[in-house]
This record gives sequence, C-alpha cells and structure tokens, in this order.
Amino acid sequence: MTGQSLHVAIIMDGNGRWAQARRRPRTDGHRAGARAVRRTVEAALREGVSTLTLYAFSSDNWKRPAAETGALMTLFGAFLRKERERCGREGIRISVIGRRDRLPAPLVAEIETTEAATAGAGRLHLRIAVDYSARHSIQSGQVGPDVDLLIRTGGDQRLSDFLLWECAYAELMFIPAWWPDFTAGELHTALQEFNHRQRRFGGLAPAA
Ligand code: IPE
Ligand code: IPE
Ligand code: MG
Repeated sequence: MTGQSLHVAIIMDGNGRWAQARRRPRTDGHRAGARAVRRTVEAALREGVSTLTLYAFSSDNWKRPAAETGALMTLFGAFLRKERERCGREGIRISVIGRRDRLPAPLVAEIETTEAATAGAGRLHLRIAVDYSARHSIQSGQVGPDVDLLIRTGGDQRLSDFLLWECAYAELMFIPAWWPDFTAGELHTALQEFNHRQRRFGGLAPAA
C-alpha cells in the first residue's frame, strides 16, 4: 500500500467479552480470535504490510486461571501446526517473541519447528508475542523494529506493556470492535487513516 516497509502491530483484545456477549465460555472467544488472526494475516498480505506483530499473550496474562492460560497455550500450538505449511508457501515468515522459559515444552517445540520451516519466507514477517512484556524485553536488550501503526481492538486505550520502546513514534488507533469481529475492511480503513496522518518525528511539517 505504501511501497515502503510498514510495521503494523495489533493488541488483539476483546475475545472474552465477545464470548460473554454470546453466553459462551471465554475460550470460545479465543478460538474465534484465532480465526480473526488468519483473516488479518491474509488481509495484511494483500495490503502490502511488511511486518505484522500480534499481541497474543502478555506476561501479565499468567494471572488468569490455569484453565484459560492452558487453553491458550494449546490453541497457540494448534495454530502454529496448522498454519506453518501454508504460511511458508505464501511467503510468510513466522517468529514468536517473548519469553520461552515459562511456556510448555511441546509449545516451544512447535515454535522452533515453525520458525525453522518459515525462515526463508520474505513477503510478510508475522511476529506473534507470547509471554511478552515490553519492560522485560527492554531490560534484557531485546528490542525490534519501530512500529508505524499500532491498533488496539476492544475499546480500551492503553498499551498493556506491549512494544513500549518500538512505539516511540507509532501512530495509535483504538478500535471499539472486539478482536473476533475484526475484519479485513477494518484493517483497510486503519491503513487509509494512517496514510492521511502526518508524521513529524519531532521535526517540522514540510513547507507547502
Ligand atoms: C485478548 O482478549 C486475548 C488475550 C489477552 C489472551 P481478552 O481475553 O483479554 O478479552 P477481554 O478483554 O476479556 O474481553
Ligand atoms: C492485552 O490485553 C494483552 C493481549 C491482548 C494479549 P489484556 O486484556 O491482557 O490487557 P488489560 O488487562 O486490559 O490491560
Ligand atoms: Mg482483555
């Protein structure tokens, strides 16, 4: 879309409320959220996004009941197993960022297999943040590329310890839709708005 490298990051929030509104268990919301991830990755490819970083599980999310965190870990593993072949074919390189020392061993194995299987892909770099804390990443000297556009779904307007360093000059967008309802159209609209924003990085607007 811009012809330049474009890093979009998304805080995928609202799975629980989506499920609650349907009187279904929160884990159903996370499953619907995984389907939204698939749709969004396809949309990002079409839009020419070069890096897409998705916040899937924060280090603070370990505070949730073990049944929910366990279901999420199982879902991540299943997602990677299901998607890695197609992603490799479509030119999508998958990386997982965040701590690995607290993840279940079978999930770490899925992550390593997926990263190796997609390492050569170069159309879109999909980075999934699992057991991620920006503060922890900064303290351990692990910071990534600057974010151009940060989107948070679910209506809350905060960063919840996501990419604090990399978002120094990111454009921020807060979208009311719950994550499972996020569509390709919404990504398109967000990118259109992004293209209309003037970024100055502390300098002056170019003279007319
Ligand atoms: C985001 O949805 C996914 C994770 C944090 C794992 P939530 O589970 O936070 O959904 P809400 O915010 O409770 O609706
Ligand atoms: C942020 O959402 C983490 C993810 C979307 C993975 P949370 O639901 O955990 O954030 P808070 O608790 O509302 O700040
Ligand atoms: Mg939430």
